[in-house]
Formats: sequence, structure tokens, C-alpha cells
Amino acid sequence: MQNKPISKVIFACLVLVISPNLVSADETAIKSGEKKSVACTACHGVVNSNNPEWPNLSQQSTRYLIEQLHAFRDGTRKNALMSPQAMGLSDIDIIEISKYYNSIPAKRGKISASDNVVELGQSIYRGGIEDRGVPACISCHGPKGLGIDRTGYPKISGQHAKYLYHALEEYKEYYDTRDKRGKNFAIMSSISFKLSNKEMKALSEYLQGLY
Ligand code: HEC
Ligand code: HEC
Repeated sequence: MQNKPISKVIFACLVLVISPNLVSADETAIKSGEKKSVACTACHGVVNSNNPEWPNLSQQSTRYLIEQLHAFRDGTRKNALMSPQAMGLSDIDIIEISKYYNSIPAKRGKISASDNVVELGQSIYRGGIEDRGVPACISCHGPKGLGIDRTGYPKISGQHAKYLYHALEEYKEYYDTRDKRGKNFAIMSSISFKLSNKEMKALSEYLQGLY
């Protein structure tokens, strides 16, 4: 400190005082997240991923992204392609990358299934299945499937149907050990457990085109 010219010290202090007004902390984090996400875009792209088995991350709930990256890193959630990607991330990397992806506006998805499939999906999405105690998906994921950032309820609209189906299958598969994977996993696992494969397929196809 003593060796630095006083003008430099004053300048550094000024930058510290002024910069919060010029660039918000969030913008700084998003910029840094963008740089750190270069490796991720190889599979996830920026807006849309390059393979329907790999999820789109754009506009996803920040909290949900953070939770999933921690789960991959600590081994609670496993995937041969994805797990190694999370291993080298620090807590700060995870926060910044998650804020970055959340800041990217998602594209609308397209429906590719037939009308009767999409109608079944829509009816469960909006009204649930009363006699089996399946709640309406809309109550947590919202009318446009955008989820709720604050609670970590993910955006599920405009997502690849193939990925969504796989995600629903996984919740169902881990029903017996659902509590080990956290409160939110357990919520979704108890719901998937009550759905048939045909219903999960219909929901996935409907959600891909929801916006
Ligand atoms: C080699 C391809 C590949 C790369 C590179 C990759 N991922 Fe993934 N990622 C996947 C696959 C595949 C899945 C789906 C895993 C599953 O089905 O459980 C996934 C899932 C995810 C999810 C969960 C999304 C959800 O909706 O639940 C997040 C978050 C994620 N990746 C973030 C990242 C980040 C951040 C990076 C860069 C540090 C990254 N990924 C790099 C392939 C990749
Ligand atoms: C009570 C609230 C609630 C309801 C109702 C609900 N969900 Fe979810 N959903 C969640 C939560 C919370 C998660 C995140 C789970 C986690 O963190 O592991 C989630 C995750 C998902 C995912 C995974 C998204 C991804 O990117 O991997 C899909 C797909 C999904 N829900 C579909 C549905 C469908 C279809 C229905 C209706 C049959 C439904 N949800 C009803 C709360 C809910």
C-alpha cells in the first residue's frame, strides 16, 4: 500500500464507491457466468440445447439450477455425461452460471405430437387426475409452465419432450428413496409415481409446445 502513488489509491477507492451504481452486482455475476459457461454450451447451447435428451437451460429458475448443480457435484443426482461437468465448479461458479442461464430469454417450443396426445397432457396439466390424487401441474408450474424461481419450481414449458419424459421417469424410479434427494425431489417423485407412462408421455409432448 505504502509504495502505491496516492492517486492510484484514490482512484481505486472511487471505483469501489461508484461502480455499484454503474454495473449492478447481478450484471457482473451474469457476465462472469457467461464466460464460465463456455464448456456448457457445447451441449446445452445458449438458448436451446443440441440434443433432445439434454435440457434447455435458458430462463430456468436460478434457484433450481443452483440446486441441480450442487446435486450433480455431490453425487445426489447422477448422469454419465453431466456429473463430470459439475465436479470442477466452485460455489461461486454455480451461482454465476445459474444467473447467466436464467437471464437468457427462452425460445418457444413446438408441438410435434398428435392432437389427442396433447389434449390428454393438457387436461392433466390443468386439472390433475382427481380420483388418483394427482394434483394439477399448473398449481406449481404456472399457466405458462414458467415455474416459480423463489421456490426452485422449474420452468418446464418449451423443454424437449424427450428430456421431460426422462425426468418424470427418474422421479418415479427413485420414489422409494425420494426423501434422500431433498424436499423438492420428494414433491415431484410422489406425483410422478401416480402417473402411467402414457400420461407422462402426453404431458411431455404438451409441455414441449406450451408457452
Ligand atoms: C457432454 C454434454 C454436457 C455438457 C458439456 C454439460 N452438460 Fe449439463 N446436462 C447434460 C445432460 C445429458 C443432462 C441431463 C441429465 C439427466 O438426464 O439427468 C444435463 C443436465 C443439466 C442440468 C439439469 C437441468 C434440469 O432441467 O434439471 C443442469 C443445471 C446442467 N446440466 C448444467 C450444466 C452446466 C452449468 C454445464 C457446464 C459447466 C453443463 N451442464 C455441461 C449434458 C451436458
Ligand atoms: C406441489 C408442486 C408441484 C406440482 C403440483 C407439480 N410439480 Fe413438477 N416440480 C415441482 C418441483 C418442486 C420440481 C423440482 C424437483 C427437484 O428439485 O428435484 C419439479 C420438477 C418437475 C420436472 C423436471 C424439470 C426438469 O427440468 O428436470 C418436470 C418435468 C415436472 N416437474 C413436471 C410436472 C408435471 C407434469 C406435473 C403435473 C402432473 C407437475 N410437475 C406437478 C413441483 C411440482
